[in-house]
Amino acid sequence: MAAILISKSISSEEILIDSISGPQLGQSKRHEHDCLIGDSLEIAEIRKMIDRVAPENDSILIVGESGTGKELVARLIYRNSGRREKAFLSVNCETMPDPHLDLELFGQENEAHTGINGRNPGIIEQGDGGTVFLDEIADMPMTTQGKILRILQEQTFEPLGANRTIKTDVRIIAATNKSLVTAIKENRFRVDLFYRLKMASIYLPPLRERKSDIPLLANHFLKYYSGECGRRFDGIDPDAMGQLMAYPWPGNVRELENNVHTAVVMCKGKTLHPEHFPVLAEKPEKISIGPEEMEDGYAKLFDDTINPVFNKAASISGGHVYHHLMAAMEKALYSAALKYCGSNQVKASALLGVSRNTLRDRIKRFSLY
Ligand SMILES: Nc1ncnc2c1ncn2[C@@H]1O[C@H](COP(=O)(O)OP(=O)(O)OP(=O)(O)O)[C@@H](O)[C@H]1O
Ligand SMILES: [Mg+2]
Repeated sequence: MAAILISKSISSEEILIDSISGPQLGQSKRHEHDCLIGDSLEIAEIRKMIDRVAPENDSILIVGESGTGKELVARLIYRNSGRREKAFLSVNCETMPDPHLDLELFGQENEAHTGINGRNPGIIEQGDGGTVFLDEIADMPMTTQGKILRILQEQTFEPLGANRTIKTDVRIIAATNKSLVTAIKENRFRVDLFYRLKMASIYLPPLRERKSDIPLLANHFLKYYSGECGRRFDGIDPDAMGQLMAYPWPGNVRELENNVHTAVVMCKGKTLHPEHFPVLAEKPEKISIGPEEMEDGYAKLFDDTINPVFNKAASISGGHVYHHLMAAMEKALYSAALKYCGSNQVKASALLGVSRNTLRDRIKRFSLY
């Protein structure tokens, strides 16, 4: 992406949303105090990303399973950007079939239609100076995708029925919980839009891969929902908290939030116990944590990045593409593991599942210090 500002990393308090402006949101009250809760390394990275990308005007793609916090992250980027005084407008592309989405986004100019002087300005026009959040972009029709690409490249569009071009200044943040690579393979998504969007992308890992966030999140939601119904709680008992941490949460943070909300309503005392969380007694629906699914998931992530690297290697490596790319991959992998473990070799070798001798050998071979 274009120039990235590296600034200090921020705490959840620092990216607190204190008020939402703009015409967007009936639900603005609910989002008044949104903040990114969690003390996992993953959440720390996401905070840094928000801090880096917020001041820029580039479009952003946010990817993650349902309920991982994509819309929350989009709002935080907006709240920490220079556009915070203008609108944040959200459109769900999945729920709006053709041609309603085009009408909603680009508006219409037609004497026969009501509105200001026969005009119904769309969200892109209303969002001038602000931010437009395109949720579930994988489901956007191809023709609309072309118009969004034009917005990203030229910041121009034509309302339906109009014979004039409007210039706008919107920042686009898009989100998806489906693979755009699959959508491209199935000819449902434009490659050029994909590359344009993913110049700056943020991946939100599922909650089961950052379990250390669960106690903080559960207590945060307990505080919020007990406050909402004017009650005081002492907390969540250790047994219940242990079970909440062990549960795989296929619906991610949203599912945890809903269950804490239900527990607050069910509990007549002051402490939440396991019986206040009926979901813990149920067999969770199957989620993709088997080794094959994990490999498949990682392969999908690589699919997103391998092409430019592969093309470059293919043009210069004279038939040794496999060797060169695997060596580069190995170096990057060891380097990432050492970084993740703060250069602690015992932890890094355990994490990678290789012996310390192998790790030492690679550190030397790849000059990793
Ligand atoms: N790290 C977090 N800290 C605090 N609240 C969170 C966090 N992550 C998610 N939430 C809360 O969980 C709920 C679901 O988050 P959000 O709507 O942003 O998810 P999503 O990824 O957009 O889901 P979907 O794909 O289903 O639209 C929201 O109430 C949000 O405020
Ligand atoms: Mg969402």
